[in-house]
Amino acid sequence: AAEIADQLSNVLVTEEQIAERLEELAAEVVTDYEGKDLLLVGVLKGAVMVMADFARKLPRDITMDWMAVSSYGAGTKSSGVVQIRKDLDTDLTGKHVLIVEDIIDSGLTLSWLLENFASRGAASIEVLALLRKPDAAKVEIDCRYVGFDIPNDFVVGYGLDFDERFRNLRDVAVLAPHVYS
Ligand code: PRP
Ligand code: MN
Ligand code: MG
Repeated sequence: AAEIADQLSNVLVTEEQIAERLEELAAEVVTDYEGKDLLLVGVLKGAVMVMADFARKLPRDITMDWMAVSSYGAGTKSSGVVQIRKDLDTDLTGKHVLIVEDIIDSGLTLSWLLENFASRGAASIEVLALLRKPDAAKVEIDCRYVGFDIPNDFVVGYGLDFDERFRNLRDVAVLAPHVYS
């Protein structure tokens, strides 16, 4: 395979910036959920890194569950068809749920997920997304905790993939157009 550096245009958000922002969001979440049980729901696979790092910045008890959904496959555009590959193990009845996502791109995944969760009887449902692309939104998502608003480029790293690659990059970087065109 070609060198990783040749496949990236530029770093968009560094590992340090991510850590710092997650610390700030964690402080907000601690305040907002004081006295409440909190269930973090990570959306596999992209949210693995943000879930692991964000959860460890919370100096309190939480529980964690995972839902695996996929809409992108091997392309750079959302198919709009969301498939459940793994459902939650947890009953949401009466739970304060915070969905943890790596990115809101078109918004289709979260819009589908929020609708899917709505009938499960949670006490509250909010969203934390490390990244959001305002210019790519096809549906508006009410996201309480946003890490960074970013331009409408295809980004990889820190959990985000292109065709399952680049998830392990420490920073978030723009994928070089020659890789997918
Ligand atoms: C990516 C990303 C978000 C979603 C955002 O997941 O991790 O879950 O797309 O895009 P949207 O707002 O346009 O719906 P993907 O479907 O690629 O699955 P993955 O997390 O396993 O990579
Ligand atoms: Mn995802
Ligand atoms: Mg993906």
